[in-house]
Amino acid sequence: MESLLQVKRLTVDLALDRRGRFPVVSDASFDVRPGEIAGLFGESGCGKTTLALALLGLLPPDRYFVRGSIRLRGRELAGLGESQLEQVRGAEVSLILQEPVLALNPVMRVRDQVAEVIRAHRRWDAARCRREAESALRLAGLPDSARLRGAYPHQLSGGERQRVAIAQALACRPALVVADEPFTALDAGLQLELSSLFREWTEKLGISFLLISHSPGVLARVADHVLVMYGGRIVEQGGARQVLEDPLHPYTAGLLRSFAPGPRNGFSSIPGNAPDLASRPRGCPCEPRCEDRTELCVAEMPLEFQPEERRLVRCYKHAC
Ligand SMILES: Nc1ncnc2c1ncn2[C@@H]1O[C@H](COP(=O)(O)OP(=O)(O)O)[C@@H](O)[C@H]1O
Ligand code: SF4
Ligand SMILES: [Mg+2]
Repeated sequence: MESLLQVKRLTVDLALDRRGRFPVVSDASFDVRPGEIAGLFGESGCGKTTLALALLGLLPPDRYFVRGSIRLRGRELAGLGESQLEQVRGAEVSLILQEPVLALNPVMRVRDQVAEVIRAHRRWDAARCRREAESALRLAGLPDSARLRGAYPHQLSGGERQRVAIAQALACRPALVVADEPFTALDAGLQLELSSLFREWTEKLGISFLLISHSPGVLARVADHVLVMYGGRIVEQGGARQVLEDPLHPYTAGLLRSFAPGPRNGFSSIPGNAPDLASRPRGCPCEPRCEDRTELCVAEMPLEFQPEERRLVRCYKHAC
Protein backbone atom coordinates (compact mmCIF):
# COMPACT_ATOMS: atom_id res chain seq x y z
CA MET A 1 0.00 0.00 0.00
CA GLU A 2 1.16 3.57 -0.75
CA SER A 3 2.54 5.46 2.24
CA LEU A 4 1.02 8.75 3.30
CA LEU A 5 4.10 9.73 5.30
CA GLN A 6 7.44 8.17 4.53
CA VAL A 7 10.34 9.00 6.81
CA LYS A 8 13.79 7.78 5.87
CA ARG A 9 16.95 7.97 7.97
CA LEU A 10 15.79 11.01 9.90
CA THR A 11 18.51 12.31 12.21
CA VAL A 12 18.27 15.37 14.44
CA ASP A 13 21.36 16.79 16.13
CA LEU A 14 21.04 19.29 18.94
CA ALA A 15 23.80 21.81 19.57
CA LEU A 16 24.05 23.04 23.15
CA ASP A 17 26.72 25.50 24.28
CA ARG A 18 27.75 23.47 27.29
CA ARG A 19 27.46 19.93 25.96
CA GLY A 20 28.40 20.29 22.29
CA ARG A 21 26.43 18.68 19.48
CA PHE A 22 24.75 15.30 19.91
CA PRO A 23 22.04 13.31 18.11
CA VAL A 24 18.59 13.38 19.73
CA VAL A 25 16.96 11.36 16.94
CA SER A 26 19.11 8.88 15.00
CA ASP A 27 18.39 7.21 11.71
CA ALA A 28 14.61 6.92 12.15
CA SER A 29 12.78 5.25 9.26
CA PHE A 30 9.08 4.44 9.23
CA ASP A 31 5.92 5.12 7.33
CA VAL A 32 2.30 5.95 8.12
CA ARG A 33 -0.32 4.63 5.74
CA PRO A 34 -3.57 6.32 4.71
CA GLY A 35 -6.34 5.78 7.26
CA GLU A 36 -3.94 4.42 9.87
CA ILE A 37 -3.15 5.35 13.46
CA ALA A 38 0.54 4.81 14.06
CA GLY A 39 1.62 4.98 17.69
CA LEU A 40 5.03 6.20 18.84
CA PHE A 41 5.84 4.69 22.22
CA GLY A 42 8.76 5.38 24.53
CA GLU A 43 9.94 6.70 27.88
CA SER A 44 10.29 10.37 28.62
CA GLY A 45 13.41 11.93 27.07
CA CYS A 46 13.81 9.36 24.27
CA GLY A 47 13.25 11.93 21.51
CA LYS A 48 9.53 11.63 20.66
CA THR A 49 8.72 15.35 20.72
CA THR A 50 11.89 16.20 18.81
CA LEU A 51 10.91 13.71 16.11
CA ALA A 52 7.36 15.16 15.94
CA LEU A 53 8.59 18.73 15.64
CA ALA A 54 11.16 17.72 13.00
CA LEU A 55 8.38 16.21 10.85
CA LEU A 56 6.59 19.57 10.78
CA GLY A 57 9.77 21.62 10.33
CA LEU A 58 9.22 23.28 13.72
CA LEU A 59 12.66 22.90 15.32
CA PRO A 60 14.66 26.14 15.67
CA PRO A 61 17.34 25.88 12.96
CA ASP A 62 19.98 27.66 15.02
CA ARG A 63 20.18 24.73 17.46
CA TYR A 64 18.75 21.73 15.63
CA PHE A 65 20.26 20.11 12.53
CA VAL A 66 17.88 17.84 10.65
CA ARG A 67 18.95 15.33 8.02
CA GLY A 68 17.05 12.63 6.13
CA SER A 69 13.87 12.48 4.10
CA ILE A 70 10.28 13.31 5.14
CA ARG A 71 7.85 12.65 2.32
CA LEU A 72 4.17 13.49 2.65
CA ARG A 73 2.09 12.07 -0.22
CA GLY A 74 5.37 11.76 -2.11
CA ARG A 75 6.39 15.39 -1.63
CA GLU A 76 9.70 16.00 0.13
CA LEU A 77 9.23 18.31 3.13
CA ALA A 78 12.84 18.25 4.37
CA GLY A 79 14.56 21.37 3.14
CA LEU A 80 11.37 23.33 2.28
CA GLY A 81 11.48 27.02 3.18
CA GLU A 82 9.35 28.45 5.98
CA SER A 83 6.71 29.96 3.65
CA GLN A 84 6.20 26.62 1.86
CA LEU A 85 6.03 24.81 5.19
CA GLU A 86 3.40 27.25 6.42
CA GLN A 87 1.18 26.19 3.52
CA VAL A 88 1.60 22.52 4.42
CA ARG A 89 1.20 22.88 8.20
CA GLY A 90 -2.44 23.02 9.27
CA ALA A 91 -3.67 22.12 5.79
CA GLU A 92 -1.99 18.79 5.01
CA VAL A 93 -0.38 17.90 8.32
CA SER A 94 -1.16 19.37 11.71
CA LEU A 95 0.06 19.06 15.27
CA ILE A 96 -1.70 18.57 18.60
CA LEU A 97 0.41 19.21 21.69
CA GLN A 98 0.08 17.79 25.19
CA GLU A 99 -0.56 21.25 26.62
CA PRO A 100 -3.27 23.02 24.58
CA VAL A 101 -2.40 26.39 26.13
CA LEU A 102 0.68 26.39 23.89
CA ALA A 103 -1.50 26.20 20.79
CA LEU A 104 -4.10 28.77 21.83
CA ASN A 105 -4.09 32.53 21.83
CA PRO A 106 -5.28 33.71 25.28
CA VAL A 107 -6.86 36.91 23.98
CA MET A 108 -8.89 35.54 21.07
CA ARG A 109 -12.27 33.81 21.24
CA VAL A 110 -11.84 30.10 20.61
CA ARG A 111 -14.19 29.90 17.61
CA ASP A 112 -12.28 32.74 15.95
CA GLN A 113 -9.01 30.91 16.55
CA VAL A 114 -10.27 27.85 14.73
CA ALA A 115 -11.67 30.04 11.94
CA GLU A 116 -8.26 31.73 11.67
CA VAL A 117 -6.57 28.42 10.83
CA ILE A 118 -9.13 27.87 8.07
CA ARG A 119 -8.76 31.42 6.75
CA ALA A 120 -4.98 30.91 6.47
CA HIS A 121 -5.47 28.03 4.02
CA ARG A 122 -8.80 28.51 2.24
CA ARG A 123 -10.10 31.35 0.09
CA TRP A 124 -13.43 31.41 1.86
CA ASP A 125 -15.31 34.39 3.23
CA ALA A 126 -15.45 35.04 6.98
CA ALA A 127 -18.95 33.55 7.40
CA ARG A 128 -17.97 30.26 5.75
CA CYS A 129 -14.75 30.06 7.79
CA ARG A 130 -16.83 30.58 10.94
CA ARG A 131 -19.29 27.85 9.93
CA GLU A 132 -16.47 25.44 9.20
CA ALA A 133 -14.88 26.34 12.55
CA GLU A 134 -18.14 25.49 14.32
CA SER A 135 -18.29 22.20 12.47
CA ALA A 136 -14.67 21.40 13.55
CA LEU A 137 -15.54 22.25 17.17
CA ARG A 138 -18.54 19.89 16.99
CA LEU A 139 -16.32 17.21 15.50
CA ALA A 140 -14.00 17.58 18.50
CA GLY A 141 -16.99 16.99 20.78
CA LEU A 142 -17.75 20.60 21.83
CA PRO A 143 -21.46 21.39 21.87
CA ASP A 144 -22.67 24.24 19.72
CA SER A 145 -23.50 26.61 22.58
CA ALA A 146 -23.37 30.39 22.84
CA ARG A 147 -21.06 30.03 25.84
CA LEU A 148 -18.47 28.11 23.84
CA ARG A 149 -18.75 30.25 20.71
CA GLY A 150 -17.97 33.38 22.70
CA ALA A 151 -15.44 31.87 25.12
CA TYR A 152 -11.80 32.74 25.60
CA PRO A 153 -9.41 29.86 26.44
CA HIS A 154 -9.20 30.73 30.16
CA GLN A 155 -13.00 30.37 30.46
CA LEU A 156 -12.83 26.70 29.42
CA SER A 157 -11.83 23.58 31.31
CA GLY A 158 -8.54 21.80 30.47
CA GLY A 159 -10.47 19.16 28.54
CA GLU A 160 -12.43 21.77 26.56
CA ARG A 161 -9.21 23.60 25.69
CA GLN A 162 -7.68 20.39 24.37
CA ARG A 163 -10.83 19.88 22.26
CA VAL A 164 -10.38 23.39 20.81
CA ALA A 165 -6.75 22.58 19.96
CA ILE A 166 -7.95 19.34 18.34
CA ALA A 167 -10.61 21.29 16.38
CA GLN A 168 -7.83 23.58 15.09
CA ALA A 169 -5.82 20.56 14.01
CA LEU A 170 -8.80 19.01 12.20
CA ALA A 171 -10.23 22.25 10.80
CA CYS A 172 -8.73 21.95 7.31
CA ARG A 173 -9.18 18.15 7.23
CA PRO A 174 -5.45 17.39 6.94
CA ALA A 175 -4.29 14.00 5.69
CA LEU A 176 -2.14 13.51 8.79
CA VAL A 177 -2.30 14.70 12.39
CA VAL A 178 0.74 14.37 14.62
CA ALA A 179 -0.52 14.25 18.22
CA ASP A 180 2.14 14.57 20.92
CA GLU A 181 0.78 12.97 24.12
CA PRO A 182 -2.59 14.68 23.60
CA PHE A 183 -4.32 12.83 26.45
CA THR A 184 -1.63 12.89 29.12
CA ALA A 185 -2.97 15.91 31.01
CA LEU A 186 -6.58 14.65 30.93
CA ASP A 187 -8.53 12.41 33.28
CA ALA A 188 -9.08 8.74 32.40
CA GLY A 189 -12.69 9.19 31.18
CA LEU A 190 -11.74 11.97 28.80
CA GLN A 191 -8.72 10.02 27.55
CA LEU A 192 -11.04 7.16 26.68
CA GLU A 193 -13.54 9.42 24.93
CA LEU A 194 -10.96 11.33 22.89
CA SER A 195 -9.08 8.20 21.90
CA SER A 196 -12.36 6.73 20.55
CA LEU A 197 -12.89 9.97 18.63
CA PHE A 198 -9.43 9.56 17.01
CA ARG A 199 -10.53 6.13 15.81
CA GLU A 200 -13.79 7.58 14.50
CA TRP A 201 -12.02 10.35 12.55
CA THR A 202 -9.69 7.80 11.00
CA GLU A 203 -12.57 5.58 9.95
CA LYS A 204 -15.07 8.28 8.88
CA LEU A 205 -12.81 11.07 7.60
CA GLY A 206 -9.78 9.03 6.54
CA ILE A 207 -7.42 11.15 8.67
CA SER A 208 -4.21 9.35 9.65
CA PHE A 209 -2.51 9.94 12.98
CA LEU A 210 0.95 9.65 14.38
CA LEU A 211 -0.05 9.35 18.02
CA ILE A 212 2.75 9.80 20.55
CA SER A 213 2.05 8.19 23.87
CA HIS A 214 3.83 6.61 26.79
CA SER A 215 0.70 4.61 27.62
CA PRO A 216 0.47 1.09 26.16
CA GLY A 217 -3.22 1.06 27.17
CA VAL A 218 -4.01 4.04 24.91
CA LEU A 219 -2.03 2.56 22.02
CA ALA A 220 -3.62 -0.88 22.40
CA ARG A 221 -7.02 0.80 22.16
CA VAL A 222 -6.46 2.88 19.04
CA ALA A 223 -3.20 2.20 17.18
CA ASP A 224 -2.84 0.01 14.09
CA HIS A 225 0.96 0.15 13.93
CA VAL A 226 3.40 0.86 16.76
CA LEU A 227 6.95 2.26 16.76
CA VAL A 228 9.03 1.91 19.93
CA MET A 229 11.72 4.50 20.56
CA TYR A 230 14.69 4.31 22.90
CA GLY A 231 17.66 6.64 23.18
CA GLY A 232 16.71 8.49 19.98
CA ARG A 233 16.34 5.31 17.90
CA ILE A 234 13.36 3.33 16.75
CA VAL A 235 14.21 -0.07 18.20
CA GLU A 236 11.09 -1.99 17.20
CA GLN A 237 8.04 -1.56 15.01
CA GLY A 238 5.16 -3.66 13.81
CA GLY A 239 1.42 -4.17 14.04
CA ALA A 240 0.04 -2.83 17.34
CA ARG A 241 -1.00 -6.25 18.63
CA GLN A 242 2.30 -7.83 17.63
CA VAL A 243 4.38 -5.17 19.37
CA LEU A 244 2.22 -4.74 22.47
CA GLU A 245 1.33 -8.39 23.02
CA ASP A 246 4.31 -10.21 21.57
CA PRO A 247 7.28 -7.81 21.58
CA LEU A 248 10.55 -8.92 20.02
CA HIS A 249 12.86 -6.33 21.53
CA PRO A 250 14.03 -6.83 25.14
CA TYR A 251 13.49 -3.12 25.84
CA THR A 252 9.87 -3.18 24.59
CA ALA A 253 9.22 -6.27 26.70
CA GLY A 254 10.75 -4.56 29.77
CA LEU A 255 8.83 -1.34 29.20
CA LEU A 256 5.54 -3.20 28.84
CA ARG A 257 6.29 -5.26 31.97
CA SER A 258 6.83 -2.00 33.85
CA PHE A 259 3.20 -1.07 33.11
CA ALA A 260 1.80 -4.37 34.36
CA PRO A 261 0.53 -4.18 37.93
CA GLY A 262 3.40 -5.19 40.23
CA PRO A 263 3.33 -7.41 43.32
CA ARG A 264 2.22 -4.51 45.50
CA ASN A 265 -0.42 -3.37 43.02
CA GLY A 266 1.89 -0.56 41.95
CA PHE A 267 3.94 -0.23 38.80
CA SER A 268 7.46 -1.51 38.56
CA SER A 269 10.19 0.23 36.56
CA ILE A 270 12.80 -1.05 34.16
CA PRO A 271 16.16 -1.31 35.91
CA GLY A 272 18.63 1.49 35.14
CA ASN A 273 18.04 4.97 33.76
CA ALA A 274 17.05 6.28 30.36
CA PRO A 275 20.26 7.12 28.48
CA ASP A 276 21.87 10.51 28.50
CA LEU A 277 21.72 11.27 24.77
CA ALA A 278 24.87 13.37 24.95
CA SER A 279 26.98 10.35 25.99
CA ARG A 280 25.41 7.25 24.54
CA PRO A 281 27.07 3.83 24.52
CA ARG A 282 28.96 2.86 21.36
CA GLY A 283 26.94 -0.28 20.78
CA CYS A 284 23.25 -0.95 21.35
CA PRO A 285 21.64 2.00 23.17
CA CYS A 286 19.81 -0.44 25.46
CA GLU A 287 22.95 -2.35 26.42
CA PRO A 288 23.47 -0.80 29.91
CA ARG A 289 19.95 -1.91 30.94
CA CYS A 290 19.64 -5.17 28.99
CA GLU A 291 19.94 -8.54 30.71
CA ASP A 292 20.53 -10.27 27.36
CA ARG A 293 23.55 -8.20 26.28
CA THR A 294 26.66 -9.86 24.87
CA GLU A 295 30.09 -8.43 23.99
CA LEU A 296 28.85 -7.74 20.48
CA CYS A 297 26.00 -5.56 21.86
CA VAL A 298 28.55 -3.47 23.78
CA ALA A 299 30.89 -3.12 20.80
CA GLU A 300 28.59 -2.37 17.89
CA MET A 301 25.17 -0.89 17.14
CA PRO A 302 22.84 -3.62 15.87
CA LEU A 303 21.27 -3.12 12.45
CA GLU A 304 17.53 -3.29 11.90
CA PHE A 305 16.41 -6.85 11.30
CA GLN A 306 13.17 -7.44 9.44
CA PRO A 307 11.49 -10.72 10.31
CA GLU A 308 8.46 -9.82 8.17
CA GLU A 309 6.97 -6.91 6.21
CA ARG A 310 6.64 -3.75 8.38
CA ARG A 311 8.01 -5.67 11.38
CA LEU A 312 11.43 -4.38 12.38
CA VAL A 313 13.64 -4.92 15.38
CA ARG A 314 17.06 -3.51 16.19
CA CYS A 315 18.53 -6.26 18.37
CA TYR A 316 21.15 -8.96 17.81
CA LYS A 317 18.86 -11.58 19.33
CA HIS A 318 16.80 -11.37 16.14
CA ALA A 319 19.65 -11.30 13.63
CA CYS A 320 18.91 -13.72 10.80
N1 LIG B 1 16.99 22.34 25.95
C1 LIG B 1 17.55 21.15 26.08
N2 LIG B 1 18.63 20.97 26.84
C2 LIG B 1 19.22 19.77 26.95
N3 LIG B 1 18.79 18.67 26.33
C3 LIG B 1 17.71 18.79 25.59
C4 LIG B 1 17.01 20.01 25.41
N4 LIG B 1 15.97 19.78 24.61
C5 LIG B 1 15.98 18.47 24.30
N5 LIG B 1 17.04 17.88 24.88
C6 LIG B 1 17.44 16.47 24.72
O1 LIG B 1 16.54 15.88 23.83
C7 LIG B 1 16.11 14.64 24.36
C8 LIG B 1 14.76 14.30 23.80
O2 LIG B 1 13.79 15.22 24.24
P1 LIG B 1 12.28 15.06 23.78
O3 LIG B 1 12.24 15.00 22.29
O4 LIG B 1 11.52 16.17 24.42
O5 LIG B 1 11.87 13.64 24.38
P2 LIG B 1 10.42 13.03 24.72
O6 LIG B 1 9.41 13.81 23.98
O7 LIG B 1 10.52 11.59 24.30
O8 LIG B 1 10.26 13.14 26.20
C9 LIG B 1 16.22 14.79 25.86
O9 LIG B 1 16.46 13.56 26.50
C10 LIG B 1 17.45 15.66 25.98
O10 LIG B 1 18.62 14.87 25.91
S1 SF4 C 1 21.21 -5.84 20.88
FE1 SF4 C 1 21.95 -6.81 22.77
S2 SF4 C 1 21.88 -5.19 24.34
FE2 SF4 C 1 20.63 -4.52 22.61
S3 SF4 C 1 18.57 -5.13 23.16
FE3 SF4 C 1 19.43 -6.78 21.89
S4 SF4 C 1 20.35 -8.23 23.34
FE4 SF4 C 1 19.97 -6.32 24.47
MG1 LIG D 1 7.70 14.77 24.68
